[in-house]
Amino acid sequence: MRALIAYLSYSGNTKEVAELVEGKLMEEGVSVEVHRIGIDAPIDPEHYDYLFIGTFTWEMGSTPEEIKDFVLEIGYKPSNIAVFGSGDTQFGGDDMFCRAVDKLVTFYRSKWSGLKVEQSPRGSQEEKVKSWVEGVLHHAKSIA
Ligand SMILES: Cc1cc2nc3c(=O)[nH]c(=O)nc-3n(C[C@H](O)[C@H](O)[C@H](O)COP(=O)(O)O)c2cc1C
Repeated sequence: MRALIAYLSYSGNTKEVAELVEGKLMEEGVSVEVHRIGIDAPIDPEHYDYLFIGTFTWEMGSTPEEIKDFVLEIGYKPSNIAVFGSGDTQFGGDDMFCRAVDKLVTFYRSKWSGLKVEQSPRGSQEEKVKSWVEGVLHHAKSIA
């Protein structure tokens, strides 16, 4: 099994989530490549069994422009996209919290709920990240 983790992170929180996702996938025997959106060379989405996209949420619940460009770069809607992100409930409360994750889940009609992390995942939220990854892998197996 091969997975790609493509993420965008300005201040490091989403990067930390990506690292935890990567660690858990490797623990589960999945081979992982990491793509820094807006920095690394374009990817071929068809090479992977799972595509993980990680994003933070920007002003008033908006999706960062780099993520929109990445979505255009992919150019179609792969069925194996799982979405994670970090946000901050102080920016507008529940409605706006990790809104970019919700938008991507809806856009790609993802089979999995999006993972939403409050700021940094270090500490109490690490388990949440790991069990979300397990859920993605388990669900994928059960429908294979
Ligand atoms: C100007 C600004 C606006 C933000 N707006 C939102 C928002 O609407 N919803 C949300 O959940 N988080 C919002 N955030 C919080 C970031 O998404 C959060 O800090 C995130 O963890 C940053 O990810 P990064 O460290 O990977 O860059 C905002 C942050 C900034 C600086």
